[in-house]
Amino acid sequence: MYKIAVLPGDGIGPEVVNEALKVLNAIERKYGVDFETAIYPFGGIAIDKTGDPYPAETQEACLKSDAVLLGAVGGPKWDALPGSKRPEAGLLALRKSLNVYANLRPAILYEPLKNASPLKAEIVGDGLDVLVVRELTGGIYFGTRGREKTDTGYKAYDTEIYSTEEIKRIAKVAFDAAMKRKKKVTSVDKANILESSRLWRETVEEVAKDYPEVTLEHMYVDNASMQLIKNPRQFDVIVTSNMFGDILSDEASMLTGSIGMLPSASLRDDRVGLYEPVHGSAPDIAGTKKANPLATILSVAMMLRYSFDMEDAARDIEDAVLSVLKKGYRTQDIMQDGMILVNTVEMGDLVVEEIRG
Ligand code: NAI
Ligand code: MG
Repeated sequence: MYKIAVLPGDGIGPEVVNEALKVLNAIERKYGVDFETAIYPFGGIAIDKTGDPYPAETQEACLKSDAVLLGAVGGPKWDALPGSKRPEAGLLALRKSLNVYANLRPAILYEPLKNASPLKAEIVGDGLDVLVVRELTGGIYFGTRGREKTDTGYKAYDTEIYSTEEIKRIAKVAFDAAMKRKKKVTSVDKANILESSRLWRETVEEVAKDYPEVTLEHMYVDNASMQLIKNPRQFDVIVTSNMFGDILSDEASMLTGSIGMLPSASLRDDRVGLYEPVHGSAPDIAGTKKANPLATILSVAMMLRYSFDMEDAARDIEDAVLSVLKKGYRTQDIMQDGMILVNTVEMGDLVVEEIRG
């Protein structure tokens, strides 16, 4: 039995997490599995209760769980607090405590929503499905940094450092993911300039030998950023460093044109994972039932796929989401002419009905 720590958080967090839990429940019934879910305070609501955005009780529960499902945190109520005391500080502490080094960000443009993409119809075709696998705990964001005084001002530096081990483990995550998809990995680096990228490239080549079915190609990051706009359908899985991944995953996600649809996963070796929508707590629509729960529901699909190895159930959820969209149901953020407007709860119910069949 898998243990899931559920952290609804603030704003629309609890609203979208509620719908995701309904979907998880439908999967339990259909597949005869049992998940042990328990809800813990996190973010602003935890600050109100305990003064700490990531209280000890929550931390202990997360560390004992097989997966963590997070809504979103933050809001105007806590904006005046100093940085280290804010809800967002809890996010960093959570990710750090779980030691999740692989960040998976799919950018999926579902066919019924293809008009929402800022790209031209002929480029988008029948939709997009790119998975960006970003290294999350190494590289320039964690390397030595500093600042020194010079005669005329300062000089400052940050260091990009990657070890063979760090590259190997993230490459494996990318190849494993590709095996469940279209079996293509594009490794993005700057190997024409950076020594760390040359090690990256050599190491990814080594890992590729264990995956003869997967096609590997290398691309420089500047070209990759152009190709994502020019011909995004050439990509299946993109694997890259922390900083390049930060930028490319945001670029890729915007090709879909709808923040309310984007899930994410962060994993470590034993496949314990943190699953959360890409969006924030959306205080502007909190409490109005306007929030799109699909990003969180799709995060549950990722949890089933990557932490619990339940590929069929994951696809079931993704197919259900596609069916609901095909039938014309839309929350406000993805509403278009002639479609049927539904609220957060109705959208969750529709996905559940679709899964029940
Ligand atoms: P946001 O993602 O919360 O909202 C940006 C815009 O997108 C808003 O207009 C919002 O209404 C809309 N939106 C977001 N999610 C939606 C959904 N599921 N359905 C429909 N519309 C949706 O980003 P913003 O406004 O910059 O930040 C608001 C708060 O959230 C801040 O306190 C911020 O620090 C926090 N935040 C938390 C994150 C997290 O918990 N992982 C990530 C990003 C922001
Ligand atoms: Mg970013």
